[in-house]
Amino acid sequence: MHIKEEIQQLTDQLNQHTYLYYVESNPVISDKEFDDLLKKLEELEAKYPEFASDVSPTKRVGGDLTSKFETVEHQFPMMSLSNSYSEEEILEWESRLHKLTDGPLEYVCELKYDGVAIGVQYKNGKLFRAVTRGDGTRGEDVTSNVKTIRSIPLQLRGDFSDDFEIRGEIFFPLKGFEKMNSIRRENGEPEFANPRNSASGTLKLLDPKIVAERGLDCMLYGLYGYDLPMETHYDSVMKAREWGFKTPTANDNYILKTNSVKGIMDFIHHWDKHRDELPFQIDGIVIKVNDYTLQSELGFTAKSPRWAIAFKFETERAETQLRSVDYQVGRTGAVTPVANLEAVQLGGTTVRRASLYNSDQIQRLDLHLNDFVYVEKGGEIIPKIVGVNFEKRHADSVAIEFLSHCPECQTELVRQEGEVHFFCPNDMHCPPQVKGRIEHFIGRKAMDIDGLGAETVDMLVSKGKIQNIADLYDLTFDDLIDLDRMAEKSANKLLKGLTASKSVPFERVLFAIGIRFVGETVAKQLAKALKNIEAIALATHEELIAVDEIGDKIALSVFGFFRDSENIDIIERLQNAGLQFEIEEKENTSAALAGSNFVVSGVFSKFSRDELKNLIEEHGGKNVSSISAKTNYVIAGDKMGPAKLEKASSLGVPIISEDDFIKMIEM
Ligand code: IVH
Repeated sequence: MHIKEEIQQLTDQLNQHTYLYYVESNPVISDKEFDDLLKKLEELEAKYPEFASDVSPTKRVGGDLTSKFETVEHQFPMMSLSNSYSEEEILEWESRLHKLTDGPLEYVCELKYDGVAIGVQYKNGKLFRAVTRGDGTRGEDVTSNVKTIRSIPLQLRGDFSDDFEIRGEIFFPLKGFEKMNSIRRENGEPEFANPRNSASGTLKLLDPKIVAERGLDCMLYGLYGYDLPMETHYDSVMKAREWGFKTPTANDNYILKTNSVKGIMDFIHHWDKHRDELPFQIDGIVIKVNDYTLQSELGFTAKSPRWAIAFKFETERAETQLRSVDYQVGRTGAVTPVANLEAVQLGGTTVRRASLYNSDQIQRLDLHLNDFVYVEKGGEIIPKIVGVNFEKRHADSVAIEFLSHCPECQTELVRQEGEVHFFCPNDMHCPPQVKGRIEHFIGRKAMDIDGLGAETVDMLVSKGKIQNIADLYDLTFDDLIDLDRMAEKSANKLLKGLTASKSVPFERVLFAIGIRFVGETVAKQLAKALKNIEAIALATHEELIAVDEIGDKIALSVFGFFRDSENIDIIERLQNAGLQFEIEEKENTSAALAGSNFVVSGVFSKFSRDELKNLIEEHGGKNVSSISAKTNYVIAGDKMGPAKLEKASSLGVPIISEDDFIKMIEM
């Protein structure tokens, strides 16, 4: 195999495993196997850098560092806690402490929040910077995203210290998480597997507006600084509350000061039993020595402080019988198996269903009908089947076979190479997919039709009033007023919304019509390059892959879409209805920056980073994320990292200011 293909294949494999791990929470290889693949890719990329992709999985290595944010060195390294899984280990830790110190010891017990660690620096009472853990030494500056979290004060009150860092855990409150997933379900977007991973994903989004909408929260658990007046951890936490931070209080029993092992154990037992009543997820308890002087006497091992330990709760598990497997067809046609179980109590709730993710999972578990299975509630909200009690299996039991035909429309299912799911290919007529396409079309980032939501789409499809997106524009007042709970006012609002959508710009229409693999960005690129729907429909494979960000997979999908007469018919009807099918050339755009690649880095005074990036694109330039020999300019703002500056100078890439840039586009 040619090296280029080998690199591409490894990259695809690793991306797929990353997806399975973080999105599906369903890894199919061990961490070691993953690391081995990654190492192989790293070696190849080091030898043949010209074939390395900009978004190679190797770029993620080193904790949570991505190339999207500035990296910043931590003032105090961000360490982790040593874990314990049994009460004996806590007892051993406690007696070790007594051997290392004299005199009585006081402890603080806290919840171990299951989220993402964050360090927030405050200067003169103002939020200065928020940095992720990263690799413990350097983290990413996610200040603009953290500023959207309401429980983190931008301005402190009371007698705050002038210069300190507060650390805590950003998490997704369970209610908000469920709400977000129900919206995603309605929009036909894939749901997030668990609150922890989605909190971490959200924190790394480039658009703080979306972060703000998601409603993250944060609990703070520790102060760091050179001249903090408090002498104990407990007093610091209490003080931080006075300054305006969300910290645990004795009232909610989220924190406890105790000088006895019994106190620690009682706290552990209480929360092991009641953790499901909390509005957020925890994965254990943290016990810390209270006194700061004692803490520094005890010091650190290479990785963690000696003065603290985490007690991790066991994952709750129950055994029950598998009754049957249902298959759900999602809005995108993906078929997901769901297990129906004999009801069983697990972590305070009755469990009757568990997710099975996909056909591979059924095979991996070697699942048979009526098997006794183990269900666990891990980080996920929906329990999952983690194993089979083979001793209880009947000799004549039948293995579960994945469906061959769609349960909704009876079309034969297909599974494409590299996909984990079986799909129903009947995307134009399979009911959930019909609804899914229409919901995608009306979504906020697509046509954004005022007065029309998923529920109405459901009703319209079920009553046979619409079957595709073009039918929407044939709807009449009489069609609508027929529907349950549709008053005159809402019907008129919907019709007005449909009319208004006729001025939605072409790139959004192109995204809205739902060509597989054509997301928002690809739609923008296609619209920009080919200008109108006819040109896109007639483009050859070569012309399509010549467009930025478009590879074989997308090109094939676009090409195929316009070779289907039903699609052509729908597009024609939408054109006749008056939707925008060509790009509107903006007056202030120019080709002043054509052919130039830009890296934007740091903080600017006249524009936000995103505004600068938009300006670059509007004037024909291209944004790239990392500096290479192909970069033409680096626009440097305040606080641009020294490593980037050095890289730009060593490669001889001109470093320009915001004002230089404005001159380039002659604004
Ligand atoms: S104290 C030296 N307190 O658990 C580390 N950590 O592996 C001091 N965590 O990175 C951390 N709840 O992200 C501390 N009440 C709590 C915590 C907590 C969650 C996380 C934190 C840390 C990880 C430790």
